[in-house]
Amino acid sequence: MNMLQIKDLIAGYEMEEKWVAAVDHVSLNIKKDDFIGLAGESGCGKSTLAFSIMGLLKKPGRIKSGSILFRGEELTKMSDEKLRNIRWRDISMVFQSAMNSLNPIMRIGDQIVDSIRAHKIVSMEEAHERAEELLKLVNISPDRVNGYPHQLSGGMKQRVMMAMALSLNPSLIIMDEPTTALDVVVQRMIIEEIEEIREKLGFSILFITHDLSLLVEISKRIAIMYAGEIVEIANSQELYLNPLHPYTQGLMNSFPTLVGPLRRSNGIPGRPPDLSQPIEGCRFYDRCAKKMNICKIRHPVLNSVGNNHKVACWIHSGDEDE
Ligand SMILES: Nc1ncnc2c1ncn2[C@@H]1O[C@H](COP(=O)(O)OP(=O)(O)OP(=O)(O)O)[C@@H](O)[C@H]1O
Ligand SMILES: [Mg+2]
Repeated sequence: MNMLQIKDLIAGYEMEEKWVAAVDHVSLNIKKDDFIGLAGESGCGKSTLAFSIMGLLKKPGRIKSGSILFRGEELTKMSDEKLRNIRWRDISMVFQSAMNSLNPIMRIGDQIVDSIRAHKIVSMEEAHERAEELLKLVNISPDRVNGYPHQLSGGMKQRVMMAMALSLNPSLIIMDEPTTALDVVVQRMIIEEIEEIREKLGFSILFITHDLSLLVEISKRIAIMYAGEIVEIANSQELYLNPLHPYTQGLMNSFPTLVGPLRRSNGIPGRPPDLSQPIEGCRFYDRCAKKMNICKIRHPVLNSVGNNHKVACWIHSGDEDE
């Protein structure tokens, strides 16, 4: 069963006389035990989607329409009070560049204790015990509770943020670029640890990054986002072996090679479109090496191509709209 069901979500930012369509008709299901990766270039709407799920999209941002069901309950229409009960307890989030948000003059343990007690009524003693337990879980020696953030490496700070997100045993954790500030080796190590903890505790993860190569090995499924839309979604291996959208193919070509001579990544020429301007056809049209006439005038929708694989591209669509 789907734990989280996002259907036809439209969210964005109300600017002077224009609407920035950061998330445009996005549908996505997350199951229990899922590890789904969301990848796409900067500005394609990944964080806006995450904030929408958390009910934390602040003005000028708003959810315009669509539905987000969590265990069958509609989050987009829920009262603030009810949402506060779900947020952190059932769905938690590690924010983009979160590791810089640790309070520099407060002991690590006290920060974890505070975050636990902000959402749950427990004694100080219990909260301290839980803080030590959580640090152990994320591979930090529990005696670090008395340390300060400046005494920790970047990787350790990131683990502390993870510990906080895990503190109330949520069933879904959204991680928005949790490791990008770290070097590649530490990044990989932390992601492997996250997966170990996930397997042990059985929660689901929505892992956001602009780095597709990181997701391929570790996540179960991958959704590719471009200019506010999910343009391709498949199981990780399937997506890696058989990327169908020219945008996904472009992201794959930008992978650094792990073996062989160092080469500059090709990247994808051009830039994503301005999301405040309506686009009639495919949003990737201007940058696409495989564009056809139809792509300029008709917008492709996500279409199933079998193998649990969906893509929004005229090359792989029939010609009927869904
Ligand atoms: N507070 C805001 N006000 C107005 N526009 C915003 C705001 N936050 C984001 N946007 C716009 O919404 C679009 C999507 O932004 P978002 O932050 O969701 O992208 P992202 O995929 O998370 O990018 P990144 O990889 O850089 O974190 C962008 O065009 C961005 O400029
Ligand atoms: Mg972001």
